[in-house]
Amino acid sequence: MRMYDLIKKKRDGGKLSKEEIHFMIDGYTKGEIPDYQMSAMMMAIYFKGMDEEETLQLTMAMAKSGDMLDLSGISGIKVDKHSTGGVGDKTSLALTPMVAACGVKIAKMSGRGLGHTGGTIDKLESFAGFSTGISTEEFIRNVNEIGIAIMGQTSELAPADKLLYALRDVTATVDNMSLIASSIMSKKLAAGADAIVLDVKTGSGAFMKEKEDAFSLAQEMVKLGKNAGRNTIAVVSDMDQPLGNTIGNALEVKEAIETLKGNGPKDFTQLCLTLGSLMLMAGGKAQTNEEGEAMLNQVIADGSALDKLARFIKAQGGDAGMVYQPELLPKADKICPVLSPKDGYVEKLVCDEVGICSLILGGGRETKESVIDLSVGIVLEKKKGDYVKKGETLAYLHGNDGAKLDAARERLLGAYQIGEEETEKEPVIIGIVK
Ligand code: URA
Repeated sequence: MRMYDLIKKKRDGGKLSKEEIHFMIDGYTKGEIPDYQMSAMMMAIYFKGMDEEETLQLTMAMAKSGDMLDLSGISGIKVDKHSTGGVGDKTSLALTPMVAACGVKIAKMSGRGLGHTGGTIDKLESFAGFSTGISTEEFIRNVNEIGIAIMGQTSELAPADKLLYALRDVTATVDNMSLIASSIMSKKLAAGADAIVLDVKTGSGAFMKEKEDAFSLAQEMVKLGKNAGRNTIAVVSDMDQPLGNTIGNALEVKEAIETLKGNGPKDFTQLCLTLGSLMLMAGGKAQTNEEGEAMLNQVIADGSALDKLARFIKAQGGDAGMVYQPELLPKADKICPVLSPKDGYVEKLVCDEVGICSLILGGGRETKESVIDLSVGIVLEKKKGDYVKKGETLAYLHGNDGAKLDAARERLLGAYQIGEEETEKEPVIIGIVK
């Protein structure tokens, strides 16, 4: 088999066989197929597309390019959750202890990543001493004993995707539905859970700006998961404005803790209840959405979800006292209000612009080497649909550097569109794809 012939076949609109796809992915992972040939193939796929069978084979080949995590040492149904990411997305921090407190085992791989704030791992590192650098044995033991463990994504997991994603990133071939779906699902399949609940975000702060595209991606990933033998469900949720009221690592941890105490923002709480009830159903603990939500509300009300978070943090070396005393989490030196320049309704809050404010304050990574300031971020007082008076506070900036605070204030004011039109608040849940 020759890579040249495969590129030509796809360029001319042909269908690649299972053997051809596995040959290509194996060869690329081993370094036997050069970047220039794989770049040409990615561009051919970008223009000619792949059908359902080809997409499944690509996903499986990438999933099997490294270790496939064996979670058989964990009893019961293991459920994983994945978000396509957005601004203020602290969902895993609150959702996983809630679901674990209801008896569904959470064995999760999380990442750091580049972006407006850190990834789940960075946020969890707001708890002094917390580490995801645990061995597979410890990971499995913690899931069995506590019901929850989170491990850093290892380079042995779907290495083909890591290589291909980096190549797509610099060859303008990221935004193809089959390539995105296979990239995400290859990592999820390799991570070993029996069931996967996906949170596909849409709006100005999401990867998929249009609802239609978010639904297509959700459908594609659900199909892939099911074809690979995993129970897979997707929620399409709003990311046209930040999720909840906080953006920034320790600030998001605090909001997740408040949510576990029943004091979370409405949108964030609703998203956790919807995703959580789907996870409970996938894990065989609830029959209906209503039953699932009632179970989740119960573990919030009786404090067991918060206790679950504390046990999980302690088991991975973190200071669990901070769960009960969140005022001990990293704090910025300065808190500055951003005041409304006029009366009116918040018609728009441009989501990725708010994310950039967090980045300016030091809360995210611009390059892999950037060091995150866990203490900084934004607390939103007004969101889409809210009425605000001139001089009233729109948001508070938490920062440690005067110049950065000034730059972030200007940027945040630009993100708020205030007008006379009464604007409807969008529901956080846009749809469910089964
Ligand atoms: N996230 C991924 O993991 N892969 C993609 O291709 C796009 C987003």
